[in-house]
Amino acid sequence: MQPTRRKSPLFSTETGAMKGRKNNNLSILVVVFSIFLFGVFMYNEDVKSIAEFPFSRPKSQEIQETKQTSPLQEDQEEPKVLVSTGTSLEDKKAEDSEENKVTSELPIKEEKEKIELPVEENDEDEEVILPPEECDLFDGEWVFDNATHPLYKEDECEFLTAQVTCMRNGRKDSMYQNWKWQPKDCSLPKYKARLLLEKLRNKRLMFVGDSLNRNQWESMVCMAQSVIPPGRKSLNKSGSLNIFRIEDYNATVEFYWAPFLVESNSDDPNMHSILNRIIMPESINKHGVNWKDVDYLVFNTYIWWMNTFTMKILRGSFDEGATEYDEIERPVAYQRVLSTWANWANQNVDPNRTTVFFSSMSPLHIKSLDWNNPDGIKCAKETMPVTNMTTPLEVGTDRRLFVISHNITQSLKVPVHFLNITALSEYRKDAHTSVYTIRQGKMLTPEQQADPATYADCIHWCLPGLPDTWNEFLYTRIISHS
Ligand SMILES: *[C@@H]1O[C@H](CO)[C@@H](O)[C@H](O)[C@H]1NC(C)=O
Ligand SMILES: *[C@@H]1O[C@H](CO)[C@@H](O)[C@H](O)[C@H]1NC(C)=O
Ligand SMILES: *[C@@H]1O[C@H](CO)[C@@H](O)[C@H](O)[C@H]1NC(C)=O
Ligand SMILES: *[C@@H]1O[C@H](CO)[C@@H](O)[C@H](O)[C@H]1NC(C)=O
Ligand SMILES: *[C@@H]1O[C@H](CO)[C@@H](O)[C@H](O)[C@H]1NC(C)=O
Ligand SMILES: *[C@@H]1O[C@H](CO)[C@@H](O)[C@H](O)[C@H]1NC(C)=O
Ligand SMILES: *[C@@H]1O[C@H](CO)[C@@H](O)[C@H](O)[C@H]1NC(C)=O
Repeated sequence: MQPTRRKSPLFSTETGAMKGRKNNNLSILVVVFSIFLFGVFMYNEDVKSIAEFPFSRPKSQEIQETKQTSPLQEDQEEPKVLVSTGTSLEDKKAEDSEENKVTSELPIKEEKEKIELPVEENDEDEEVILPPEECDLFDGEWVFDNATHPLYKEDECEFLTAQVTCMRNGRKDSMYQNWKWQPKDCSLPKYKARLLLEKLRNKRLMFVGDSLNRNQWESMVCMAQSVIPPGRKSLNKSGSLNIFRIEDYNATVEFYWAPFLVESNSDDPNMHSILNRIIMPESINKHGVNWKDVDYLVFNTYIWWMNTFTMKILRGSFDEGATEYDEIERPVAYQRVLSTWANWANQNVDPNRTTVFFSSMSPLHIKSLDWNNPDGIKCAKETMPVTNMTTPLEVGTDRRLFVISHNITQSLKVPVHFLNITALSEYRKDAHTSVYTIRQGKMLTPEQQADPATYADCIHWCLPGLPDTWNEFLYTRIISHS
């Protein structure tokens, strides 16, 4: 099918039903043994952590569950979150101030001539071809294309944090930056920063969620900032809210930290290293008040759910000092949280003003046997995506949560665009930060880099890289919107 030219905003991100996937046929014994190894492997640093690990208190019910879901080492989620190495408060404080640092370039003056933007792209008038509305953008394949990707250069985006600058941090291979997502029945529109910025003029775009959404936010900042001269852009990190401002367009690209979307004991943007995570599934307004009147809202929540099979639900409220909790099954809690979120959106989002997105789960690559590489060490040795796409890849994603989020996002009064990034990201075992990242605010030492089995981060992604593709889906939707 040929891509058709369209100027109308007609476009939909929704098609197709999720394909059923078979559970592993591994015997319980093998699973238990590998999980035991996994547990030992991940937790050999700290006995306290082992005590928190769900498999150290085996219950038949939990072992059953391992057939469907692979347990995660939650602390890998954010290198700085690791409690198991016993970070001192001083370390944390240093990190806090680092996180709160305001990066602002030259003072901004209202000089008319500065507002004149240099026109440098000669293809500026070239028409951007929007995909037809019925095209499923998420069904496709990865193709090598170093002519169009990456969309920006690592060393040309000063706003990237050390967590994601893999090349600067010592990564030698760079092909992970050169893959383009090619939908089966159409093509993604060419990325043009100015076109995006025109659409964002006088508007706010906000990512809300966990560190994977922050990963995507950093990518979006870089994609948007490339055509903005120095001094006309600034980044203000303050508490839960990070705001990137583009002066000449009066536009912002923001990130709000709320790893469970609802209120939880992990809401502190810097000091959230909490093993005993407790949520209030029906309480969202404290966060939600910060999301009002935003023009584009992009939500996610996944990784913080994956360290235990059950979720702890507070009895009462944190404000009243409550500490008792109940434990309920992960999918049940997830459904409750997303229902709360859906009600919030129905009551607070004006669909005439605001466009809402929900990102499906960002996958992990922890076991190289998942992609048949017996010589692998987690994701650490991977330089190529999985190319055999004849069968779906199983890397331990909890698809029950996918089904719940997909279902709920279809049921709101307010239209929600479901960004179905899970399956296409599962092929990108090559794209994680691995050992080329920071941990607890510090660059991994050469010794740590030499020990990927312990230190590789196979949760977050290098930038430029995979999250740029997630943003290409957002971009497609935003520029299709009149
Ligand atoms: C999500 O995309 C994958 C392919 O990337 C597809 O197999 C699956 O059916 C899609 N799910 C939904 C709910 O659209
Ligand atoms: C793109 O890749 C091809 C094949 O690997 C190589 O010959 C070419 O130099 C690359 N171009 C750029 C701009 O990196
Ligand atoms: C600048 O953007 C804000 C936030 O979107 C908006 O409320 C305000 O009206 C804009 N200012 C002008 C001068 O358009
Ligand atoms: C950053 O944001 C905070 C909170 O909104 C504000 O108090 C502070 O003045 C801002 N800093 C700069 C440099 O804009
Ligand atoms: C949205 O706009 C339509 C048409 O202008 C109007 O009928 C409707 O009441 C508006 N909805 C809201 C929630 O403001
Ligand atoms: C792709 O993977 C499937 C399932 O693992 C396997 O049967 C098939 O032989 C593989 N194809 C290629 C070309 O490697
Ligand atoms: C789908 O969502 C609707 C509305 O939220 C709910 O009533 C229904 O039980 C859900 N179905 C599944 C299979 O989760």
